[in-house]
Amino acid sequence: MGLSVVILAAGQGTRMRSDLPKVLQPLAGKPLLAHVLACADALGADDVCVVYGHGGEAVQTVFPATGVRWALQAEQLGTGHAVQQAMPDTPSANRVLILAGDTPLLQSATLNRLLEETPDTGMAVLTVDMDDPTGYGRIVRNDEGISHIVEHKDASEDELALTEINVGVILCPSESLKNWLASLSNDNSQGEYYLTDIIAMAVADGVKVHGIKADSSVEVMGINNKKQLAEAERALQARLVDELMAEGVGFADPARVDIRGTLSCGKDVFIDINAVFEGDVYLGDGTTIESNNLIRDSRLGAGNVIHSNCHIEGASTGKSCEIGPFARLRPGAELANEVKIGNFVEVKKSTIADGSKVNHLTYIGDAEIGSGVNVGAGTITCNYDGVNKHKTTIGDDASIGSNVNLVAPVSIGKGATVGAGSTISKSIPEGVLTVARAKQKNIEDWTRPNKKESK
Ligand code: UD1
Ligand code: CA
Repeated sequence: MGLSVVILAAGQGTRMRSDLPKVLQPLAGKPLLAHVLACADALGADDVCVVYGHGGEAVQTVFPATGVRWALQAEQLGTGHAVQQAMPDTPSANRVLILAGDTPLLQSATLNRLLEETPDTGMAVLTVDMDDPTGYGRIVRNDEGISHIVEHKDASEDELALTEINVGVILCPSESLKNWLASLSNDNSQGEYYLTDIIAMAVADGVKVHGIKADSSVEVMGINNKKQLAEAERALQARLVDELMAEGVGFADPARVDIRGTLSCGKDVFIDINAVFEGDVYLGDGTTIESNNLIRDSRLGAGNVIHSNCHIEGASTGKSCEIGPFARLRPGAELANEVKIGNFVEVKKSTIADGSKVNHLTYIGDAEIGSGVNVGAGTITCNYDGVNKHKTTIGDDASIGSNVNLVAPVSIGKGATVGAGSTISKSIPEGVLTVARAKQKNIEDWTRPNKKESK
C-alpha cells in the first residue's frame, strides 16, 4: 500500500510572538519544518504534502526544490481543516500519515514502528506519557481501547488529569480520512475543526484505533513558544553530540557545544567548550578545537590545532596547521599543510602553501603565498584601491619584514627579503633584499620644547 505524508505547517504560531512563521523558526540552524521534512524523507513515502498558509511564500522560498507537494490553507480554521486541504490530490488507495510541522525532534525509527505495527487498513495514533501534559490533547481510553481525544481547552477536570497525550501523528487510510474530515464540526472552545475529532468518528464506525507509544516525551514535544524552542534546541544538541561521541569524538563538556548544521569528524578529534559549528564542517583525524571557536562551512585537515577564540568561515586547511588564538579565516582562505596563522591575523580569499607562517597582526587578502614564507608582524596586503581588488603574489621562501605594506597588484620573487616598514608598490625579483622606506636622519642641534608657564 502506498504512503502519503501530510505535514501541517499553516498555523500562525501566535505563541511564538514573532514575524517569522513558526515552522521557519530555527532549530540547530535549520527551520523546524526542515527537520520534519528530513524525517518524512527517511520513510520513503511516495507522496509528501506540506499544508502551508501563514507566511506561505516565505515558507515555500526556503524549500524551493524539495520535491514536495504544497497545499494552501488560506484561513487557519484548525488541524482538521488543514488536512482537508491536502486531500484532493492525495491518492485514495494510500494510507496517510499526518505529522505536525512543529514536532521537529520526531525520529523516523518511531514512525517506522508505527507504520509496521499498524495493519495496512488500520488506524493509529502516536501517544506518549508526559509528566506535564499541559496544552496537549489527552488520549481518553475505555475498556475497548482508545475512545477519543479531548483537547486541553475542552477537557474536564478528570480528563485534564490524564497524562497520555496526542503527539499530533495520526495514521489512517485515505478514503476513510476524507469521509471523516467532511463531517467535522467546529463546535468547541476554540471554534476550530479539530483533526483529533476523527478518532471518535472512527470508533463509532467500528474501526479499532491503535495507540502506539513513543519511548521519549522529549522526542515528540510540540514547539509552540520560545521556551519550548530553547528546550528542543538543548535536546537536539544533546542528541547530535551523543551521535558524535558514539563515533569517537571527544568533548570537554557535551553540554557546552552547538552544532547548527552538519559536523563530521575523523578519528580522535577533541572539542573543548563553547565551540559553535555552523553549516557543513569537517574536522580531520586528530584535530583539536580549543575553547570559544566559531567554525562555519569549513573543512579542516588532520592534526590541526585551532586555538581559542577564532572565527573560521568558508576555509580549508591541510594537515597539521595551527590557527589562532584570535585569528580570522574568511571565505576562500585555503591553507596547505603545516601552515601557522597566529593572533590577530585575518586571511581572506588567499592560498598559503606548505609550512608558511603568518604569526601576528596581519591582513592577507587576495594573495597567493608560496611555501616556506615568513610574513612578519603587522604586514598588510593593500588589495583594495577603493574601487577594485588586486592580487599579491609571494614566492616560496620569501621573508616579509614587520610592518610592510604590499600594494597590490604586486609580486614578491622567490627567496626575496623585504625590509621592515617598507611600502612595496613595484614587484620584486627573486633573491634580492628590498628596503622601501624613508631614510633615517639623526638631527643633532635639536632641543625639546620647554613647557610654558600657565598664567
Ligand atoms: C495539536 C493537537 C493536540 C496535540 C498537539 C501536539 C489538534 C486539534 N490538536 O494541538 O491534540 O496534543 O498538537 O503537539 O490537532 N496547523 C495548520 N492549520 C491550522 C491549525 C494548525 O496547519 O489551521 C498546524 C500548525 O502549523 C502546527 C500543527 O498544525 O504545525 C499543530 O497546530 P497547533 O495549533 O500547534 O496545535 P496544538 O494546539 O499544539
Ligand atoms: Ca503545537
